[in-house]
Amino acid sequence: MKVLGIAGSPRRGGNTDLLLAEVLKGAAAKGAEVKTIVLNDLDMTPCQHCDACFEKGVCRFDDDMQMVYKELERADRIVLASPVQFMGVSAQAKIMIDRCQALWARKYVLKIPPLGDRRPRKGLFVAVGGMKLANLFEPSLAIVRALFKVLDIEYAGDLLFSGVDAKGAIKNHPTALKDAFTAGQKLVED
Ligand SMILES: Cc1cc2nc3c(=O)[nH]c(=O)nc-3n(C[C@H](O)[C@H](O)[C@H](O)COP(=O)(O)O)c2cc1C
Repeated sequence: MKVLGIAGSPRRGGNTDLLLAEVLKGAAAKGAEVKTIVLNDLDMTPCQHCDACFEKGVCRFDDDMQMVYKELERADRIVLASPVQFMGVSAQAKIMIDRCQALWARKYVLKIPPLGDRRPRKGLFVAVGGMKLANLFEPSLAIVRALFKVLDIEYAGDLLFSGVDAKGAIKNHPTALKDAFTAGQKLVED
C-alpha cells in the first residue's frame, strides 16, 4: 500500500504540514509505504490550455509535474494538504491540480484510465484556515472533489480545521493531530 502525501502550503512545518505528517505516520504505523511531495519546492508551470495533452494524455511541459504524475500513478492512497488561501486551495496546490488536465484528457478525450490502471484509489483532503467562517472550506472542497473524481480517486474524507492561523497553532487544538494519525490509519485499512 503506497500513500502519497502532497504538501500544498508554502509554510514548511506549518499547520497543514503538521497534520499531513501525522496522517502519514498513522498510515506507516499500519505498514504503508509513505512519501511526501512538497509542491512549493517544485518547478511547475501553470497549465497553458494548449490541449497538447489531448493527443497522448501527456503534458508537453517537461518540469517537476512529470514526477508528480508518476507518483500519483504509483499511489494507492493520496493525501492532499492545503491551507485555505483567499477562500480556495493554495496557489501551489492549484497549479498541480490544473496540470491534472492531462489526466482529464486521458479519461475524457482518449478514454483511457487517468492514472494508468483501474486500481481502486482513495483520497483524503486536509485543510486549515485562519478564519472561523461558515462555508470556509466549501470552495476548496469543490476543487478537491472535482480533482479526485476526474482521477477516479474515491473521496475517503477530510480533516478540516478553522480558526487556526499562527504557524504551529494546530498543536494547541485538543484533538487535531490525534485525529490526523487515526485518519491515516483508517485510510490504509479501509
Ligand atoms: C495568502 C494567504 C491567504 C489566506 N487566506 C485565507 C482565507 O481566505 N481564509 C482563511 O481562513 N485563512 C486564510 N489564510 C490563513 C491560513 O489559512 C492559515 O494561516 C493556515 O493556518 C495556514 O496553514 P499552513 O501553516 O499550513 O500554511 C491565508 C493565508 C495566506 C498566507
